Amino acid sequence: KRLVVLVSGSGTNLQALLDAIAAAGAETYGAEIVAVGADRAGVEGLARAERAGLPTFVCRVKDHATREEWDHALAEAVAAYEPDLVVSAGFMKIVGKEFLARFGGRFVNTHPALLPSFPGAHGVRDALAYGAKVTGCTVHFVDDGVDTGPIIAQGVVEVRDEDDESALHERIKEVERRLLVEVVGLLARNGYRIEGRKVVIQ
Ligand code: GRF
Repeated sequence: KRLVVLVSGSGTNLQALLDAIAAAGAETYGAEIVAVGADRAGVEGLARAERAGLPTFVCRVKDHATREEWDHALAEAVAAYEPDLVVSAGFMKIVGKEFLARFGGRFVNTHPALLPSFPGAHGVRDALAYGAKVTGCTVHFVDDGVDTGPIIAQGVVEVRDEDDESALHERIKEVERRLLVEVVGLLARNGYRIEGRKVVIQ
């Protein structure tokens, strides 16, 4: 299976996928990353892709007159690689109607909280501020909401009294990277069906 991964920052989730595929071999893992895209240039995630010898692309909102044109450009950039599955690994933009029309149902996202709790761009900070005792991460299909699509898998992480946002986020990411590698491999190898809010992996 062909994966396109979208990043916005450090790309450690991308790196986890790269390492898992390199270790197992694309055949055994069931997928290979064919390209990495970002919404801005110069992020570490793109450098990781380049080090792995992968094609990369940047699709910046401010390069387009409207959000819809950006969404179209992003969809075109992704479609050029003919992905079976698109993975948002720390991609911090909300895609629009066209992207979802073309990739919905094969577009997964990882979120650093236990959805439906703490959706949005500050899930770690929000869980900490709320005083949650446990939080975690969620891998889900992307739908037309923000972090509202059908949940595929979740991992629980304890919150410690001494945690600040970055310490907690690092602990979440340890679980998140393993969960994403496991889920992407399963979806690629086994195939799946989405039935309402349920995801059935064959
Ligand atoms: C991940 O925790 C992701 O869930 C969140 O931002 C983080 C990205 O980390 N949206 P990285 O870029 O994969 O290191």
